[in-house]
Amino acid sequence: MKILLTGATGLVGSKLVELLISEGHELHYLTTRESAIENELKYKGFLWNVQEMTIDHKCLKGVDTIIHLAGETVFQRWTEDAKKRIMDSRVDSTQLLLNLLQENEHQVEQVITASAIGIYPDQQDGAAMRENEVPPTADNYLADVCIAWESMGMQFAEMGLRHAIVRIGIVLAKDGGALEQMAKPVKLYAGAGFGNGKMWQSWIAIDDLAGIFKHIAEEELEGVFNGVAPHPVRNRPMIESIGKKLDKPVVLPNVPKFVMKLMLGEMAAIVLSSQHVSSTKIEETGFVFELPNLEQALERYL
Ligand SMILES: NC(=O)c1ccc[n+]([C@@H]2O[C@H](COP(=O)([O-])OP(=O)(O)OC[C@H]3O[C@@H](n4cnc5c(N)ncnc54)[C@H](OP(=O)(O)O)[C@@H]3O)[C@@H](O)[C@H]2O)c1
Repeated sequence: MKILLTGATGLVGSKLVELLISEGHELHYLTTRESAIENELKYKGFLWNVQEMTIDHKCLKGVDTIIHLAGETVFQRWTEDAKKRIMDSRVDSTQLLLNLLQENEHQVEQVITASAIGIYPDQQDGAAMRENEVPPTADNYLADVCIAWESMGMQFAEMGLRHAIVRIGIVLAKDGGALEQMAKPVKLYAGAGFGNGKMWQSWIAIDDLAGIFKHIAEEELEGVFNGVAPHPVRNRPMIESIGKKLDKPVVLPNVPKFVMKLMLGEMAAIVLSSQHVSSTKIEETGFVFELPNLEQALERYL
C-alpha cells in the first residue's frame, strides 16, 4: 500500500512508520516542520500548514490510504489560546485533507482518522463502553474536541471513501507518553494515585495501537473502533503495578483532586477522568493483542 500519514513524527506516528515500513508499505507523510522532511525511497515528507490551510498536493501522488493522527498536544496548560490550537489543529487539518481530495485527482480509497476515548462519558461504574454508546452531546472540553474531530472526519465517508476512526486510549510506550510521566514520581518513591484512585485507565501498548491501524488499513475496515487493551485497570492499582515492576513500593496516599486541579488547571481533567472502554469490536475483526495485560506492557516498556 502507499500511505499518506499525518503526525508521523509524533509518539504514535513514529511507531506506526516503523511497523508499516517493516511490512513493505510505502509512506508519504505531512509535517509542519521543514527540518522534519526526509526524502527516502519509501519515506517521503511533505509540508503543510494547518493555520494557513496550505498543503503540498504532491503528497497525494500514488496514495491509496490516508492515516490522520496529527494534532497539537493536549498535555499543556489549557489556556484559551491552547484550547483553540488543540481544537483547530484537529478539525482544520481534517478539513484541509478533505479539500485536498476534493480539489485534486487521486487514487485514495480509504481514510483512517484518530480520535480519543475522551469522547466517552466520565464514569467509574458500569460495564466497559462500546463504540455505539456515545451520548449525542459533549459534556467537557475533550469530548467536545473528539466530537468535532470525528464529525469532520465523517465527511470522508460522505465522499464515498472507506472511513474508519480509532478512539485511542492512554498510550503506553518506552520513551515519551503517559507511562514515562507516571513512572517518574514512582522512581523517586513519590508515586501516588490521583483523586479517589478508582478512575478507569483504558490504556493500550503502543505496539498494539500501531498494529490496530495497520490491521484496519490492510483489512479495509470501516466504522469506529476503540484503540484500547482488553484489560483496563483503575488508577491506584496501575500506579502500584508500576511501583512493583520498578521495585519502588507506592506507599503515599492519593493526591487529592483539588491539588491536581491547582497544579494542572483545567487540564487535570485528563488524569482525573474515568473511561472504562471495551476492545471487543476490534478483536471481533480478528485483531489479536500482543500485550493484552498491563504487566506484559510494563515488562516491555519499563
Ligand atoms: N498519546 C496518547 O496517549 C493519545 C491518547 C489519545 C489520543 N491520542 C491522539 O493520537 C494522535 C497522535 O498522538 P501522539 O501521542 O503521537 O501525539 P504527539 O506525539 O504529540 O504528535 C503529534 C503530531 O501532530 C503533529 N502536530 C502537532 N501540532 C500540529 C499542528 N498544529 N498542525 C499540524 N500538525 C501538528 C506533529 O507533527 P509535526 O511536528 O511533524 O508537524 C506531531 O507529529 C493525536 O491526535 C492525539 O490526540 C494520543
